[in-house]
Amino acid sequence: MIAESLLVEQFVNRFQAQPKVFARAPGRVNILGEHVDYNDGVVLPMAIDREIGIVARKIEANEAHLVALDLNEEVVFTYQSLQEKKDKSGCPLPRWALYPAGVAWVFLQKRLAVSGIQAVFSSSIPIGAGLSSSAAFEVAFATLWSALGGWQLEPLTLAQDCQKAENEYVGVACGLLDQFSSVCGVDGHLLFFDTRSLEWKPLRFFEDCVIVIADSKVERSLTSSEYNQRRETCEEAVRYLQRYLPNLKSLRDITPVEYAAYREYLPAEARRRAEHVVKEIARVYSAVNALRNNDRRAFGALMYASHYSLRDDYEVSHPNLDILVEIAKQLPGCYGARLTGAGFGGCTVNMVAKSEVDRFVTELDRLYFERTSLKGAVFAVEASQGANWKLI
Ligand code: GLA
Repeated sequence: MIAESLLVEQFVNRFQAQPKVFARAPGRVNILGEHVDYNDGVVLPMAIDREIGIVARKIEANEAHLVALDLNEEVVFTYQSLQEKKDKSGCPLPRWALYPAGVAWVFLQKRLAVSGIQAVFSSSIPIGAGLSSSAAFEVAFATLWSALGGWQLEPLTLAQDCQKAENEYVGVACGLLDQFSSVCGVDGHLLFFDTRSLEWKPLRFFEDCVIVIADSKVERSLTSSEYNQRRETCEEAVRYLQRYLPNLKSLRDITPVEYAAYREYLPAEARRRAEHVVKEIARVYSAVNALRNNDRRAFGALMYASHYSLRDDYEVSHPNLDILVEIAKQLPGCYGARLTGAGFGGCTVNMVAKSEVDRFVTELDRLYFERTSLKGAVFAVEASQGANWKLI
């Protein structure tokens, strides 16, 4: 949780005025359904108890004055010059400021009132670790501007607007998974989300299991170029398959059994990528059944299978993530483990029996260091509520 009182104190120091609104938005961990959200697939994430918190007040000027406490940086940008991605003095915006600027840009295009603001924020989501710090950042500012402007959007519309900011302003062709989770999170629940129909429902997780995140501390590199490439290869696979299945619109439309009949007609790389997507979507449905049947082993096995598929077919793992999964699998009480998020570094997600969780955390930390000489970070998380705001 972000200490609101600390943010208020810093705000008063910096602006000699009281902030009026506190807005927050959580990060997310994806339990299953990786790299399928841009293939119209189904996913199984949860919002976590790591979040970004902002305190802010409205000002007359048409600009945002933002103070990033964790980075010890601040920026002012005006709403008239958002298109140029420059700050008020004409310097290029630092990367972190592109997220709120992108959200303001999308809202202004929709002719929504975007208030001038002074804001101070801080985040407990590790940056760039695959826990959606960027989406939380977008969603927190979207929530803030909605609160200050006195207007409201449907939760999924707000998530889509934030996705648009990331796609068109920041330049990452992400799907809707991250923004959806940050907006729609439900305390104590996983979220089953159909990225095609946009239908979703909260699901209770196994009562005697805990979700543990292990941060490899390996910086993700080339993430956005590799990510965008994976997306293009999936589209290429669809074009090949359409020669045989003219009604196919995305990889969501083909079952693993049908796919087995057509896979040989695809070029090798597209074949491996599509293989992952088609089976990963099926795994999410199987996982929902496993939850319904209270079958922990089945659920965990699907997580391991997802990891191997991301490693071998989708090729987005990293040797250190493979090591984390390998160690976790040997530890008592671990049902399943896999990389989470885009991959290429970042975190794994583990499903662990509550009774074993303390030992699991200590041992995974210790053994990872033994194997890699890297100090990772292993911590249990809880499913949390999506973004909200309040007057202060
Ligand atoms: C990133 C993207 C998401 C999703 C995941 C992979 O987190 O932002 O939209 O594609 O990667 O599942």
